[in-house]
Amino acid sequence: MFYLKYRPKTVSEIDNTKVREIISKILNSGNLSHAYLFVGQKGTGKTSAARIFSKAINCLDNKFTNRKNRSFEPCNRCHNCLSISHSTSVDILEMDAASNRGIDDVRKLIHESNFLPMTSRYRVFIIDEAHMITPEAFNALLKTLEEPPQSVIFIFATTNKEKLPKTIISRCQVVNFGRANQKDIIRMLNRCIEGEKIKIEEKLFPLIASHSDFSFRDAAKILEELVIQGKLTFTDGQKFLGFYRRDFLEILEKKDLKTTLSWIDEFSQTGGSIKVLIEQIIEELRAILFKKSGLIIDEATDTKLTKKEIITLIKILTQAYQNLRTSPIESLPLEIAIVEFYNETYSKVKS
Ligand SMILES: Nc1ncnc2c1ncn2[C@@H]1O[C@H](COP(=O)(O)OP(=O)(O)O)[C@@H](O)[C@H]1O
Ligand SMILES: [Mg+2]
Ligand SMILES: [Zn+2]
Repeated sequence: MFYLKYRPKTVSEIDNTKVREIISKILNSGNLSHAYLFVGQKGTGKTSAARIFSKAINCLDNKFTNRKNRSFEPCNRCHNCLSISHSTSVDILEMDAASNRGIDDVRKLIHESNFLPMTSRYRVFIIDEAHMITPEAFNALLKTLEEPPQSVIFIFATTNKEKLPKTIISRCQVVNFGRANQKDIIRMLNRCIEGEKIKIEEKLFPLIASHSDFSFRDAAKILEELVIQGKLTFTDGQKFLGFYRRDFLEILEKKDLKTTLSWIDEFSQTGGSIKVLIEQIIEELRAILFKKSGLIIDEATDTKLTKKEIITLIKILTQAYQNLRTSPIESLPLEIAIVEFYNETYSKVKS
């Protein structure tokens, strides 16, 4: 999968220009803080950057350890780099605060931070979704953050900086990942097509960026989808990105469960992103709803669906969208949503 294959492994591969510059500056100066806070929307590289950073400061073959080498880039070959890449390093601990958010989890972490690194220069604690940590757990962490052991570095990552206590933020060096912008996404897309040796019309790139929800991950997925579907010209790509939502709406109108489910199955089997699909349909439904209310915000298709059905569908799909994150099967929330929608509209017809 492109988004994994082309996940940045060095600082120079971080396609987010501002972040790349800040991290370069920090590593160049060698002046490290005890705590960093990576803030930004999902899919902007917080986790990737945290790993690259951990590698860079622990690499056995860059400027921090090898005098002959002036580069701060991780070599991605030495024992430390490799074990971080494979998530087997005993010194780099990743914690997902969404599921380990309580006082006991944090106490364990504090306890861990007292140990010296085994094979590295620093023990790094990467704490994802940091805003989920409970207030009392944060409290327990404050003291450690004030005077952390010399060889410990914390990297907090969050999508919601507002939800973090100010006392925590003030003890961290904040790196803002924001949202992925078009120029940076295009840099990433270029990295993918160069790696894959694919010929694709470059006019498609801004279009992919605009469908990506400002996320590198989504942009990579859309590119892959276009490649799998062989939609490599601007016209084909545009049609595919803009119009499959209309195909889907047409199928929905017919209210035939079997046809709909097999359409979804084929869509997802051929590499289509369910997430993007749901976003597209909701966007389309919104445009239709506005049109039915006499407002034109976008070119909207005509549909046999009633206003009430559209509203129901938007609600059900929004729910499905939220469930995507936790679903073990990507297409499942959408499939359930469709069954639910048909049930509702059918029973209304009957009663
Ligand atoms: N700055 C970036 N440059 C290039 N690709 C990126 C970048 N950020 C994210 N990606 C892509 O998105 C995927 C998810 O990135 P990740 O680091 O997990 O983001 P986050 O932690 O912010 O959600 C990566 O596998 C990579 O393909
Ligand atoms: Mg992440
Ligand atoms: Zn290395």
